[in-house]
Amino acid sequence: MRCPAKLNLYLRVVGRRADGYHELETVFQTIDLCDELAVRGVSGRVRLRCNSAEAPSDHSNLVVRAASLLRARPEAFVSHGAVLTLSKAIPTGAGLGGGSSDAAAALVLLNRLWELGLTVDSLRWLAAELGSDVPFFLEGGAAIGRGRGEVLEPLPDAPTRWFVLAKPPAGVATPWAYAHYRPVGRNGVGLTDFLAAWQSDEPAAIAAGLRNDLEPGVLAERPDIAALLEALLAAGAVNARMTGSGACVFGVCESEAQARSVAERLKASTDAWVAVARSLGAAECQALAAEGA
Ligand code: C5P
Repeated sequence: MRCPAKLNLYLRVVGRRADGYHELETVFQTIDLCDELAVRGVSGRVRLRCNSAEAPSDHSNLVVRAASLLRARPEAFVSHGAVLTLSKAIPTGAGLGGGSSDAAAALVLLNRLWELGLTVDSLRWLAAELGSDVPFFLEGGAAIGRGRGEVLEPLPDAPTRWFVLAKPPAGVATPWAYAHYRPVGRNGVGLTDFLAAWQSDEPAAIAAGLRNDLEPGVLAERPDIAALLEALLAAGAVNARMTGSGACVFGVCESEAQARSVAERLKASTDAWVAVARSLGAAECQALAAEGA
């Protein structure tokens, strides 16, 4: 099954919660940059094979934790086991949700393989236990995320949008980014304004509506990420922002042709990982899930 990455087109930190998490108002959008997860049934044990040295193959990988959560369910048997094969294309420490998307795919695939019969609602609970971003990937498309990011309100599919992604060699750990959050610039674009722009056909309007409250705190410590944002704009992107907790940034482009030329310029002028991606609607995400059946 292909596991798509996401961008946070909008991310407002509403406040700090008693449990240490931050209350968010965010807009997720899946894109066509995908990892690939395959499962094969074996008896009694779970093993992960992964093509990336950056992603762990042990219990700290969310895919393995997803499998453990399912095996602990009363519907599961001790004989249930699987070999999971994960091919990573989404960089880690990027804010692109790769690990979360892989975990959501693992829940769906193992629920099928082991014939547990868990409903989407049950999977949502398990997903939220694995991480704040995991529930979003059960449906994909575009959605408003509230709470930790796990309380979702789906948005209707919008026209295809083109982005250029860029990530510096060093990643960002999510807890570090939140620890550096400072409540500055809170008078930015509101969600209503963003949504009005998002529903318009104008890439320039969407570009003007981008917001990420984690960005200033991260940029203060990471001049390499600040430089990439500058480089994206200099290469011709309409606007650029960090996604989630970073370190990946994205530029909004008017068209595929413009995105490809921005990406070429960026590759020539930086040492960053660079990719062109387009938005992936909920219907396309469901098709990816069905493909893996
Ligand atoms: O939920 P997840 O495991 O992805 O969160 C990782 C870390 O990111 C948390 O331990 C917390 O430090 C931070 N976080 C936060 N507020 C959120 C989401 C994550 O403070 N809404």
